[in-house]
Amino acid sequence: MPADDTQNSAAGSATAMRSDLCGHLNSDDVGRCVTVCGWVDRRREHSEHLAFVDLRDHSGVLQCVVDGARDLRAEYVVAITGTLRLRPEGTANPALPTGDVELQDCDVELLSRAEPPPFPLDERTEVDETLRLRHRYVDLRKPRMQRNLRSRAAVNRAIRRAMDAQGFVEVETPMLIASTPEGARDFVVPSRKEPGAFYALPQSPQIFKQLTMVGGVDRYYQIARCLRDEDLRADRQFEFSQLDVEASFVQRDDVLGFVTTAVAEATAEVTGHDPETFDRITWLDAMERFGSDKPDTRFGMELVELTPIFADTKARVFQAPCVKGICLSGGAESLPRSRIDELVAMCQRWGAKGLAWMRVATADPASDSSNEDAAASGASGLILEAGVAKFLSSAEAAAVISALDAKVGDMVFLVADERRLVRHVLGLLRLELGRPPVNDGSFNYLWVLDFPLFEGLNAQGEPIPSHHPFTMPHEDDLPMLMPPDGPLSGEDLLQIRSQAYDLVLNGWELGSGSVRIHRRDVQQRIFEVLGIAADEAQKRFGFLLDAFRYGAPPHAGFAVGLDRLTALLVGEENIREVIAFPKTQSGADPLTDAPSPIAETHLQELGLRVLPPA
Ligand code: AMO
Ligand code: AMP
Repeated sequence: MPADDTQNSAAGSATAMRSDLCGHLNSDDVGRCVTVCGWVDRRREHSEHLAFVDLRDHSGVLQCVVDGARDLRAEYVVAITGTLRLRPEGTANPALPTGDVELQDCDVELLSRAEPPPFPLDERTEVDETLRLRHRYVDLRKPRMQRNLRSRAAVNRAIRRAMDAQGFVEVETPMLIASTPEGARDFVVPSRKEPGAFYALPQSPQIFKQLTMVGGVDRYYQIARCLRDEDLRADRQFEFSQLDVEASFVQRDDVLGFVTTAVAEATAEVTGHDPETFDRITWLDAMERFGSDKPDTRFGMELVELTPIFADTKARVFQAPCVKGICLSGGAESLPRSRIDELVAMCQRWGAKGLAWMRVATADPASDSSNEDAAASGASGLILEAGVAKFLSSAEAAAVISALDAKVGDMVFLVADERRLVRHVLGLLRLELGRPPVNDGSFNYLWVLDFPLFEGLNAQGEPIPSHHPFTMPHEDDLPMLMPPDGPLSGEDLLQIRSQAYDLVLNGWELGSGSVRIHRRDVQQRIFEVLGIAADEAQKRFGFLLDAFRYGAPPHAGFAVGLDRLTALLVGEENIREVIAFPKTQSGADPLTDAPSPIAETHLQELGLRVLPPA
């Protein structure tokens, strides 16, 4: 893998304790006297005096034939000097990169003893997460973790290279700030100098990067640490890193280009291949065809519009504002009844009234599959049977088969309801039925464009921004936001598109960005619509609004989640596996015991008092 490092090789350094890395030795080195350092992976007795000691460092494992190795235990740290030779005939291990060779006439220097490790370091044993994190320093010795950390470094390296080459300047923004509006809770830090006052830790460098644009930086980037107090999941930690980007005098497509270049370079650096695709889709298309704003486009099974087919239907189930369907190839045979019942129950949990299913069979009257449940045979000679088939007219059945391009042996699934709900439920069902494993080796990047400006209305009827309140509305929809003749209704507002866009990879949201508002009148209107009063806007974002008085260039930007990118590139399902010292699902660090109480004197100094739990 190109991500593997070579810069740590000690070869050539006269003062180093070791001459070589274990995993780099091979038959070309036979006859050399070498010194390797590392941890005892395994010791196996060979004869009364001789033992095989497998020595491990981050590069791999080397077999050493050691005389008198009795007091060498697993995870002892040693330096071994010996002569490299080919393993005797018939004893080579083709599964190991160093499997042709071994070190003989070994001299062992014990550098550190070790207690037995808290868990086995092989890749096969499932170890409890808390135990792994409590002893993360041991866990990190595993080849998988070594590979992941090195791949992460490779991602950062490639990104810096790509951004530098595109003329971007790396600027560090502060960690102790006022609140950022990214929609999660802030972590706060009490001020000692000003008891009762708090800093917020940045949810992102959003406001500062926009200020660098007013400051003439023109092209900014940062590999930025961000902190958000939100519920943790497989793709979410409290602390994470972003490739954060902002540029002036550019349009949306310029930003997509900058980010595509950086992400493609990172992909090639880790996987050795250029990504397959960087397709584009509008948000509305994504919702209609995949039922998701982060479609996994590694597989088809698209949602198909069936509403017109059921416009005058007699089937009560399909008398609804929207009907869509998906087709599972071969599903008639592969899905037992118990699984179908499970799927129906899932869809109900996701909010649907039910899930209509039918099998596709041939209309051949001699065939067993044609029974009294069969609703209809169309020109294709196919029929729908079982499930809700008996409620469909023959024309409806034929139209459904044709619209879904269904073949004999397929299973079709239909949901009828409000459009938003249909998309949501079928989108989830599609993933449930067809999603490939995370590490299937393909990388389908997808730009999702033209997000709506607002994602819905809150209890007060005020719109909720889809991105953040500095996102520029779509040029064509600006008149809808700022009509000369009076206010808009909430529902009208939901139709307004924005110049916000996301990058999606294999169904994960990898990043978001937008063209920003640089016009004061538009920004004020957005705050107004969001129900943020002028004085409150001034209090929360006054410094940004003030900055815009002094000459704001048109600007746009983006942020890519680097934990997510790295996890997907190495085929991990949880970003924890690509973070050196992550938190558990409940937000704790079992290694350092954070979070933990602080001393009373410290609290007093900060002017704080802890209340007993409510
Ligand atoms: P956004 O909030 O969408 O946009 O964040 C960008 C990307 O950061 C990653 N991310 C996370 N990764 C791990 N754990 C988390 N808790 C977490 N939260 C977010 C995701 C996400 O897509 N300032 C804007 C960007 C901009 O407009 O330029 C922003 O932060 O991969
Ligand atoms: P019912 O007539 O409610 O017993 O439903 C008959 C079948 O249609 C069951 O398999 C339900 O799961 C399914 N069903 C009910 N409502 C819907 C709906 N709105 N969309 C799709 N399928 C439905």
